[in-house]
Amino acid sequence: MLNGKEIVLIISGGIAAYKSLDLIRRLKERGARVVPVMTSGARKFVTPLAVGALAAEKVFTDLFDREAEHDVGHIRLARDHDLILIAPTTANLMAKMVHGIADDLATAVLLATDKPVLAAPAMNPKMWQNPATVRNLETLQKRGIRFVGPASGEMAEKGEAGVGRMSEPLEIVAAAEAVLRDQRAEAGELPLAGRHVLITSGPTHEPIDPVRYIANRSSGKQGHALAEAAYAAGARVTLVSGPVELPDPANITVVPVESAADMLKAVESHLPADIVIMAAAVADWRMASEGAQKIKKDGSGKPPALNLIENPDILATIGHHTSLRPDLLIGFAAETQNLLQNARSKLERKKADWIIANDVSPETGIMGGDANTVRLVSKDGVEDWPQMDKTDVARQIIARAAAALTGDKGS
Ligand code: CTP
Repeated sequence: MLNGKEIVLIISGGIAAYKSLDLIRRLKERGARVVPVMTSGARKFVTPLAVGALAAEKVFTDLFDREAEHDVGHIRLARDHDLILIAPTTANLMAKMVHGIADDLATAVLLATDKPVLAAPAMNPKMWQNPATVRNLETLQKRGIRFVGPASGEMAEKGEAGVGRMSEPLEIVAAAEAVLRDQRAEAGELPLAGRHVLITSGPTHEPIDPVRYIANRSSGKQGHALAEAAYAAGARVTLVSGPVELPDPANITVVPVESAADMLKAVESHLPADIVIMAAAVADWRMASEGAQKIKKDGSGKPPALNLIENPDILATIGHHTSLRPDLLIGFAAETQNLLQNARSKLERKKADWIIANDVSPETGIMGGDANTVRLVSKDGVEDWPQMDKTDVARQIIARAAAALTGDKGS
């Protein structure tokens, strides 16, 4: 999500500077170019050699660098990039920013920039709570500077704990993505800005007794990819997810559920939404009554009768709802035979606008795999899509959904 983005990373002087090394790696993994600026304090904790090697870039340290300043390098650093990220941000640097002090390269860049600034503070809890810092934080926030953290936990100082630890690199990466995405949404560059998208994902688990449950092989990969694609397209996203092994996507409200009944409740309580996509593989049946105790073998050699009843159909419930039905309702049809016929019948029966039909026969490897071959079934007909990665399927569905919502026919 940071593909092609250019980030100036200002490292100021705190013990958390060691985490900046990992942060550089994480930012680069996501496709960003990282241009490091180090204060003299930062250079006491980590070396420019390590920072430069990880970033694979020249490290800027001096305001009066003859080589960099022949064309006013600090102004170019401040203006020619997409984001200025300060990690760690010390109490001292915050104070200097408040007062517009520009006595080194980092502060000169911060004073001269017209780009978004994201700060990850790191300091002793007493310094963080000091009224001077509290006031500085308020002032900087009012000026539009965004903050991530600090988190609470143990300090480097022996026996001290509290709020002041720098956020973990992955949280900082997620915050950087959020800042850049919000900026694009505000600039009107993202089609789903201001829209709410709700997605169901993963399997459901239907308890048999306190230790056993009925489940299916859904991995949640397609639903989670849809949530990330909707977020990247500017939407506020709610992801109602059954139990999956995947990490929660960043910047998305994740509502974890277990059973189909929980999923229906969670969906209803998070609606209304402009677009709802039901990618979850909801179990069709649950136990008529869940045993309070573990079911034991009774010695007769006969298995117990599992008395099943049908689960509520979440897609159909929302499709037929008079007030909660979204502008665009999309379901999936996971089939092992008669794909199109079943998809068309689900479209009608569940009152969906589109059904994304896929053949989940074991030989396709779709269930749990990374690729998907789908067909988009709507009242206008059937479209065959080529085999794609689940993330590309997600991007296509979201692009089509955004186009349908805004009346743009799209491609
Ligand atoms: N679905 C749902 N609630 C259910 C069952 C399914 O919301 N209780 C949704 C799924 O999320 C999917 C669509 O309905 O978007 C179709 O799911 P699928 O399992 O393919 O269909 P079923 O309704 O279970 O039909 P069948 O048993 O005939 O396959």
